[in-house]
Parts: sequence; structure tokens; C-alpha cells
Amino acid sequence: MTTERTFSIMKPDATRRNLTGAVVKMLEEAGLRVVASKRIHMSRAQAEGFYAVHKERPFFGELVSFMISGPVVVQVLEGENAMAKNREVMGATNPANAEPGTIRKELAESIEANTVHGSDSLENAATEIAFFFQPEEIVG
Ligand code: RTP
Ligand code: MG
Repeated sequence: MTTERTFSIMKPDATRRNLTGAVVKMLEEAGLRVVASKRIHMSRAQAEGFYAVHKERPFFGELVSFMISGPVVVQVLEGENAMAKNREVMGATNPANAEPGTIRKELAESIEANTVHGSDSLENAATEIAFFFQPEEIVG
């Protein structure tokens, strides 16, 4: 049994619709524990830095604009197989393709306004956690 940490964002469509509690409930019911959390409004530079891996993709500009369109909640999630478990409970990127019971199927508005971000590897999780949190802000 390996306890992992992964990184999560509740995106501006979640804060705008007052769904942060609903999202956390689904994460917690999946066995994930919130060990750090803060509500922030990202700057353009911060969003561009965070999504630098996508900068050549056609949707990059729209994605950055969306991510700074309102506040987000950045979180560190902990649990057994936390990275994969979080991806599972998030569901497919496009909510139309997501499994019933997943966050994106139940709550997302569109492929862009898809409610949550989750790290896609343990290596990226460590990088993304460090992008937003100091070690002392993470309290297991
Ligand atoms: P995320 O990074 O947010 O957890 O989502 P993901 O891994 O499921 O999807 P990814 O391929 O990493 O894409 C990052 C985010 O970009 C937006 N997107 N828009 N318009 C489009 O075709 C398109 N494709 C992706 C989504 O908000 C996606 O979550
Ligand atoms: Mg991704």
C-alpha cells in the first residue's frame, strides 16, 4: 500500500456555480483526503506557467483565459494511489465521454469548463504541488 499525494484544481466554473463543496464531497467519498487547500485568483503569468506543457496546443490561449476568469481552489490530495484515483473520480476530459458518477459527468459544463484539474503522473504531481504550495502549508 503506497500513500501518494496529487494535485487538484477546482476550476472557475466550479467556484462560479458554488460547487466546491460538492466536488470535495466526491473526492472524499472516493477515499482522497484534502491535506492542503487555498482559494486563489491566478494571474495570467501564473496560469501560463502552470499550463506551459500545453503552450503549443490550439486551445492554450482559451484555456489560460478561462483559468483566470474567476477564482479557483488549489488542493493537495492524499491517499492510496491518489493520482490514479483522482483521475478516475474526475472522469474523461470531455464530460460527454465521462463515466456516470464521475465529477465531470455529473458537474462539468463543457470540455473547457470541466470543473477539475488533476495531475496525470506522480512526477507532474510533485511539480504542480510545488508550484502552488510551500511544504509547511501541507498538513497531513
Ligand atoms: P486537466 O489537465 O485539466 O486535469 O485535464 P486533462 O488532463 O483531462 O486534459 P488535458 O489534455 O491535460 O487538457 C487540459 C485542459 O485543457 C482544456 N482542453 N480544452 N478545447 C479543447 O479541445 C480542449 N482540450 C482540452 C480542458 O479544460 C482540459 O482539462
Ligand atoms: Mg492534463
